[in-house]
Amino acid sequence: MDRRSFISNLSAATVASIAGGATLSDKADALEDAMSIELDKRIATPWFCSIEPTPEPVAGDTRPWYQHDDPRLPEMPAAPTLIDFFKLRFAPANHVLQSARLAKINGLDEKIVLACLLHDICVGNFIRTDHGYWCAQMIKPYVDEEISWAIEKHQALRFFPDESVGYEYPKAYIDFFGADYKPEPYLVQAWEEAKKHRWYMTARLITMNDLYSFEDGVVVDVDDFTDIIARHFRQPKEGLGFDGSPVAHMWRSMIWPNNFL
Ligand SMILES: [Fe+2]
Ligand SMILES: [Fe+2]
Repeated sequence: MDRRSFISNLSAATVASIAGGATLSDKADALEDAMSIELDKRIATPWFCSIEPTPEPVAGDTRPWYQHDDPRLPEMPAAPTLIDFFKLRFAPANHVLQSARLAKINGLDEKIVLACLLHDICVGNFIRTDHGYWCAQMIKPYVDEEISWAIEKHQALRFFPDESVGYEYPKAYIDFFGADYKPEPYLVQAWEEAKKHRWYMTARLITMNDLYSFEDGVVVDVDDFTDIIARHFRQPKEGLGFDGSPVAHMWRSMIWPNNFL
């Protein structure tokens, strides 16, 4: 760990806990704790596994942890819809909104537009690692099987060019992962299997409308997709997170991301 940059980026709460140590030994312990937490964040755990205490407490609220409603986040309705999640948790969600807009401009089927709209929704709010699999699982009870299948497979297909449709390996990945990065064997296997599947092109179209750079000045609103969502997303009447589905806990984790337990 670069100690100088670590120390210069400490939060106010961490600085206060180190400074508040009564003895030099207490201060050293507090610093060690802070470094251990930082290492966990960087190396060991997806970020959603590391809840944050209240680094900037809200005046008058002395709870050390915001169990359930977190006053730093917009309050969710009792029965949240997909659009509520877009507005109150995923926003600004530019990547998926612009990808769905591009799919619409390209005249693609509504199911593909919805797949583009949902393909990365877990990345900013829940988990990045293996995100295609997580996103597919989150939405599976509410969409056609083809949509969740395609979203799962885009995880692998992003790494493999398809000259027949003009899909190239993303240049951004060379910058991100290095020129010698090779997809892991499970991704190669998923790609080999997907290539033979009748829904291959649905997954491939997600990767072809997957925008890596935003168009300047373009603002896309999730309300532009209200009709498509109504036609192709089975919104549970109890609200996402409260319908007793096998994935309800994933949606609840985004409603209350800082729950202690
Ligand atoms: Fe993705
Ligand atoms: Fe994407």
